[in-house]
Parts: sequence; structure tokens; C-alpha cells
Amino acid sequence: MLLIPSSARHLLPCAAALLFAALSASAQGAPQPKPDNRPWFDRSLSPDERADLVIKEMTLDEKMNFVHGTGWNGLRADAVIPPGSLGGAGYVQGVPRLGIPGINQADSAVGVRLAAAGSHYATLLPSVLGAACSWDKDALLLYGSVIGRELRETGYNMSIGGGVDLARDPRNGRNFEYAGEDPVLAGTMVGELATGVQANKVMGDIKHYAFNDQETGRNIVNVIIDKRAARESDLLAFQIAIGLAHPAGVMCSYNKVTVKGAPNANDDWSCENDYLLNDVLKKDFDFKGFVLSDWGGTHSTAKAALAGLDQEQPGSQYFGDPLKAAVQNNQVPMSRLDDAVHRVLRSMFANGVIDSPPVTQVVDPFRGRDDAEHIADESIVLLKNADSALPLNAASLQSIAIIGSHADVGVLSGGGSAQVDSPGGNAVHPHPGGTHWGEVVYFPASPLKEIRAHAPNAKIEFDPGSDPASTAKLAAASQLAIVFVNQPLREGMDAKTIALPDNQDALVDAVAAANPRTIVVLETGGPVAMPWANKVQGIVEAWYPGIGGARSLADILFGDVNPSARLAISFAKSDDQLPHPEIPGMNLISAPGGMPEGRRHRPDELPPFDYDATEGLRVGYKWFESEHKDPLFPFGFGLSYTTWAYSGLKASQHEVSFTVQNTGRRAGTEVAQVYAVLPAATGESTFKRLVAWDRVTLAPGESKTVTLQLDPLYLSIFDTDKNAFTLAPGDYTILAGSSSADTPLTATVHVVQ
Ligand code: BGC
Repeated sequence: MLLIPSSARHLLPCAAALLFAALSASAQGAPQPKPDNRPWFDRSLSPDERADLVIKEMTLDEKMNFVHGTGWNGLRADAVIPPGSLGGAGYVQGVPRLGIPGINQADSAVGVRLAAAGSHYATLLPSVLGAACSWDKDALLLYGSVIGRELRETGYNMSIGGGVDLARDPRNGRNFEYAGEDPVLAGTMVGELATGVQANKVMGDIKHYAFNDQETGRNIVNVIIDKRAARESDLLAFQIAIGLAHPAGVMCSYNKVTVKGAPNANDDWSCENDYLLNDVLKKDFDFKGFVLSDWGGTHSTAKAALAGLDQEQPGSQYFGDPLKAAVQNNQVPMSRLDDAVHRVLRSMFANGVIDSPPVTQVVDPFRGRDDAEHIADESIVLLKNADSALPLNAASLQSIAIIGSHADVGVLSGGGSAQVDSPGGNAVHPHPGGTHWGEVVYFPASPLKEIRAHAPNAKIEFDPGSDPASTAKLAAASQLAIVFVNQPLREGMDAKTIALPDNQDALVDAVAAANPRTIVVLETGGPVAMPWANKVQGIVEAWYPGIGGARSLADILFGDVNPSARLAISFAKSDDQLPHPEIPGMNLISAPGGMPEGRRHRPDELPPFDYDATEGLRVGYKWFESEHKDPLFPFGFGLSYTTWAYSGLKASQHEVSFTVQNTGRRAGTEVAQVYAVLPAATGESTFKRLVAWDRVTLAPGESKTVTLQLDPLYLSIFDTDKNAFTLAPGDYTILAGSSSADTPLTATVHVVQ
């Protein structure tokens, strides 16, 4: 085979793919059917029929191509990039003699990764967690569309983004890639995202299946969870997302999972977990696509294949020659191999990647930036606004101090496989080439510049915040201080604590002491503690706001945009309030120089994470509520520059309606939320669960009656005897309001069986 080192991947034009097509057609020796003898190109047939027609023609070796990747590709400098690969995270060879293209898979959680290597531009979107705070299905559909569009324009036909692991721990290094702590909200948001990707004729993916809810020890840990808790928490998020998007792929995770009460699910790696893959994903969720392993997450051949893994990534250690041999000696039936190949091919047909392969073109950075800004407008959460300090009135401001977090040059982004390359290089320490693993990357969207544009007559100065004494001097001399704080997160390691790193609490204290008119802007991957919350006037959570985020933030600070985002994750006051005051396993495996994700450790070095011993299904706000702990900011919370009143709740088992009124002086959008408390007999009556919501946009004084359908699934519990969700009989309390902790309307609904 023609091998091209990754350092020369920029020399890989389509011509190489064509050469490869010609070479492999002749090398494989099988006859090339004439185009009119290729009935699988008949678009009137179903994707399943078309896949079966191709499989009938395939040799064993051709089938094998589809069940594994070709190596580390663009991810490792010493890896070989095969012809046809674009150098993304993964590549699967096609069958040119049958007209079936290869699969180019790109990491694309918050935008397309590794774009710089192909001399492409890629839009950095706000973090998924931020976008989930919009509670806006259209915003997430747009989010996925930007990713799908840019993948297509750069030649990729599959996204491997789509993270929907629940935020069980606010310190998880990948929370910024996920959609928060509630299974219904997260599942819906990520389902819309993956739908947007696939609407662009690019295959989508949902990951990491399942319970990869912290990075510490992710490669060795065994997560233990009771079956009912599993189905009503993380697995429900996957069920909803998969049901909405019908993604081509589901990526199984690195960790082991033991589902108590489930057959065949003891101490098994996720990628060879019969219960998770065969029973739940393929049978109960009716998932028709293919299961691909996380990169290096395959651990066996026959066991994994029989448990439901369809594609090993990134290489072929288990699903290359060993699987071929297992099929030849009947350890794995040919029907299982055919099923795996069928799943890949039917997904390719269903998503149009065979009928309408990607056509490369220049990515439109302006369109991407506008889309990112629109999503950021709905992602940035106003958490505190004492004395209506915000929005700012430019005409009355003579001087503003902008402090910290490189707010003069850029906005922070998240790291790891979700890292997007910053245009022009890292805005903070530019260097040639793309970004490096572990680098803290700022994108060139300057909050300082945008704030200056909003207040052209004010004297606006920047201070890096590195010397508290001089920072305090500038803050004291200014009419207003806006201090930016940050929390960089990345894949492969968790934050040790929810406290801000690098002494930034002291920075806020110093600024607030120097100037009572202090606004804090947070650029964090997840929730952080704010011991200074009572000392500042305003708090704005901007998350990692994306390439449009600086303008969006300035628009919110100055009132051009009325904030409408609501927290998709609870903010604890301190680590002590969490189910685990310290991240499990961190003390054991995160020694300096070690690998916190556990790659170099043995599984027996880390005790299992027993979720049942702590929160179980009570993830996030359900934990706080049932444990009578008051968070700093609750799930669903977020302020607006106007005020809202709720009245007139009517509820049945199927529908709720109530009236929302804008009682303030500005137009705005409220996220009206409906929760339910289940009957006591369910054992789930000590906390609410989210069951419905709507974004309601109203002019000042206007009111609207909101009518929402209640999905029976969201009111149900998982009955382990019946292996199904069921509605328990009894009295349900239905609550409506503007956050999980502010539900002024209640009604009782009696459900009979
Ligand atoms: C991550 C996946 C990612 C893959 C390929 C893994 O380390 O967990 O989310 O898609 O690498 O980059």
C-alpha cells in the first residue's frame, strides 16, 4: 500500500484517492461490476436493501475494511496517513470497485478539529454546555448544521462529535463538550445537534456510550450502577438523543461498566458490554447504525464482536486479521460480520454520503462567525445583577477597566479532541502550525475591542491581572471594572476542584475591594465556586463562548441582547456539596507526570466508582434537592433584563398550560420550565425532574398562554422486571416556573394504571 507520513498530509489531494481507487480495484482482483450492474445505486430502494445488495458482492477482505480503521492517522505525528484519508481522527477504507467511498471521520465536538493540517478554516462554536443553556432546539440544530456544513466543505463524511455523557461531576474535564446534568435536556439538545450534522449529508455520532462521566481513570475504571438508575439517567440521555437523530454512529467509551441487575454486564469494557450494546442500544433503543470504539477502546475480538461492537478504531489490532480468523473458524458467525458491515453501509446510504459525496469548497468564516454569535447570544447566562448594574449605559460611562484572562486579545476554548484550530494561531502565544495537545488556546475574538466599540467615548484600559496591586489601582481609578476569570479544561484530565485556578479568586477580591462597581465575566468549561459572589455587582457566565462570543458578550453587557440562557448544570458553593467532595481516583492516579486518565495504570489500581453509593439516578439538581443542599446557582437558573410572572397552571397527565407575562420594561425571552415530582411509592419523591419547557418571547407587558405536551417517558420510571419504562399510579405534582428552585405554580395530577 502507498504510505504517506502524517507530516506530508498536505500533499494529499483527491488525486491520491483516485490512484488508490484504481490500485485497490485491480489489487483486490475481484471483478468490477459495470455501473448498470450496481443495483445498490437505485435510490428508490431502502438503505437496508441497498446495503444488502452491496454485501452480496463483497469479498471477505472487503467486508473486513468496514469493521476497523486504518490507524492513528492525523492524530500521531509518526502515524501513516493512507491514501483517501484526509488526516482526520479516523479513516475507514471503502470499496472503490463497487463505488463505495471510504469514511473520513473528524472530531468535531465544538467545530471541526485538525483543520489547520489541511489548510482549512473551521468555526469555533460556543461550548456544547453553553449551547445547551439556550434550551433552544433550533440553536442546537444550527450548531450541528455549522459542523455538518464545514465537515462537508472540507471533504469529511462523518462527524465523531455528539457527546451526551451526563455531568455527574462538575469537575469533569469534558463537561464543555456535553450538554449538562439532566437526561431530558441533554438528550434533546444533543439529538438536535446530531440531526443538524446529518442534515448536511454527513454521518453523525453520539458518544461516549456510556458512563464516561469523568476523565480521571477513564481508561481503567469500572463504573457500577443499578439498572434502574442507569436507564433513568445517562442511558435515558442517550435514548433521547439517538431517538431524535438516528445517528450513523454511537461511540462506545473507554471505561468498564457493571450494570447491577442486568445479565452479562459485569466488569465489562463498554466496547464489549453485551447488555449495553446488544440489549439496550441495539434492541431497546432500536439503534440501526454502527457502534465504533473510542480510540483504543477495543479490548477483544470475538467477545467484542459478539457483544455488538461493529467497528474498531483507530486501528485493526482486534478487528483486523484476528476477527477475520474468528469468522473463518466460526468463532464469530459470518452473519455477525455481515450485520456489522450492513450497519455501516446502511448508515452511509441513509445519510447520503454515497449518493452525494462531499464536495470541497472554501469554508465561509463570516457565515460561521455569525452562526456562532447567534448561538452565543442564547448561551451566555446572567447570574447576578445587583441594583440593575447591567445593562451598561455607554453614554454615562467615562472609564472602564477590563481585567484578566487575555480579554484584550481573545476568548478561551476547550482542549483535547474537541480543540479547534484558532485562525492565525493561538491569540496568546502564537506559533506556527496547529495547536498542540494540552495547550490552552485563545481565539482572536477580543472582548476589549468589542466593549470599546460599544462605548467609543469611554476611556477603556486593559490590565492583565497578574499584579494585584497595579490591577487594583486601575480598578479604583475607573468608573467600572469588568474582570474576566477563566477555567481551562480539556479531555484526559479533570479539574481538581471547582475553585478557580491560578489565584483568580484573589484577583476578583482585589478588584471588588478597589471598586464596588465590579462585574465578573466567567470563561469556564463547567461550574466554578464564587466565594466573592456577594462582593460584586454582576456575574456573567460566558462559558467558552466561541468565535462570535466576544461580540455577543458585549451585546449582552450593553443590552443589545437581552440574556435568555438558563443553566443546564447546577453550580455548587464548594466541592463539599458534591456527591464526591474529591474526584474519585484522583489521589491514586494523578501523580505528577502520570496520566490522570489511567492509560498507564492497571484496572486493579483504581477501586470501582459505585454511583449507587452516592447520587445514583439523582444527578445534579436532583442530588442537591434530595440532600437539602442549597447550590450557589440552581439548574435552570438565569436572569434577564426583564421580569416574569407565572399564573393559571392547568395540568393533566398529558398536557400542561399556564400563562407567562413579561412584567418588565424590555422585550425578552423566558425559558418556562415544567417539572414533576413522582408519587412517594416510586421512591423518587424527594426531588423534581424536568419534563417540559418552552422559550417564550414577549414584549413588555405581553402575556402568553403556554401549552406543552407531557411525554409519558419523561414521567415514567424504569421497571426492571418488565424491562420497560412504566407510569407508576398515584399523585404527581406538576410544577412550573423559571428554574428548578423557583416553581411558583403547582398542580396535582392523579394517574391511574
Ligand atoms: C476521545 C474521543 C475522540 C477520539 C479521537 C478519544 O481520545 O475520547 O472523543 O473522538 O479520541 O480523537
